[in-house]
Amino acid sequence: MTNKLPLLIDTDPGVDDALALLMAFDSPHHEVVALTIAAGNVGLRHTVANALKLCEVAGVDVPVYAGCDAPLLHPAPDASYVHGRDGFGDIDYPPATKQAEAEHAALAMIRLSHAHAGALVVCMLGPLTNLAVALKLDPSLPQRVGRMLVMGGAVTGQGNTTPMAEFNIGFDPEAAHLVFDAFAAAGKVVEVADWEAVIRHGFLHTDVERWLLADHPRAKFYEAISRRTREWSAGLRGERWHAADALAMALLVAPEGVRERAVRPLRVELTGAETRGATVVDWNRRSGRPDNAEILMAYDQAAFEALIRKALGDG
Ligand code: RIB
Ligand code: CA
Repeated sequence: MTNKLPLLIDTDPGVDDALALLMAFDSPHHEVVALTIAAGNVGLRHTVANALKLCEVAGVDVPVYAGCDAPLLHPAPDASYVHGRDGFGDIDYPPATKQAEAEHAALAMIRLSHAHAGALVVCMLGPLTNLAVALKLDPSLPQRVGRMLVMGGAVTGQGNTTPMAEFNIGFDPEAAHLVFDAFAAAGKVVEVADWEAVIRHGFLHTDVERWLLADHPRAKFYEAISRRTREWSAGLRGERWHAADALAMALLVAPEGVRERAVRPLRVELTGAETRGATVVDWNRRSGRPDNAEILMAYDQAAFEALIRKALGDG
């Protein structure tokens, strides 16, 4: 019998997802009971293969469940320009020997919400399509979730995929709208690590390169799969590299590192010609709606970097 919290991670690996997963596998307080896989950074075939490969490299036996291969309503461009065509830097790694489970990700989410009713921790690191489908199949799901965390959004409209939308939300705004509204209707607060917080918590490329010199299989694999996106990032954003999902996972596995958070109403815009996919935060509480989002504003940078180094086998 473990006293660890059961953790379900929905993810679209993706280079920063991979770092977050390595952090989760290390958590002394959580048992990763499932990886449910979304399309997003790249197509589902690749995101599933990448999740299986990362589990093999990390030496963990976590069931992987393939989910939806497209957004609910409107097709959306992927982020292969960031992560490589295969999502893991196009290094042509030998595929994992393990296969994904037969059960659909949405059905696994529902089943595990019953198996761990009240305790299940859900961490969303990609588009929210799978969870939206699970909510349509079982609207009572939020009542059985102990903690819900989303990497996504841009809380003052400084997006990374359109001017106002962040990638995970912008890839499937309808799914995100359904998720935030369903949890709000259940009186549940969603913890949010948004893109703007990610930009405030970057790592010096020179530090990352040093951490990746660790004589550890994790560091060696991660150095290879992340090389392309780190080079792309240096060209675009200068001296610091940003691992969005890793910040979300730091919030999840080590909330004691939070230095500032804000609780406000949040909804997802669906129809604006320029604002579709925006996470609209009611900072001045004009709407009268309940505070349904707990927004990470600042995290202890040294603690964050220590978690990264440990995940890479350098700590
Ligand atoms: O905007 C950053 C998010 O989009 C991260 O989850 C990254 O992996 C991509 O999915
Ligand atoms: Ca992701």
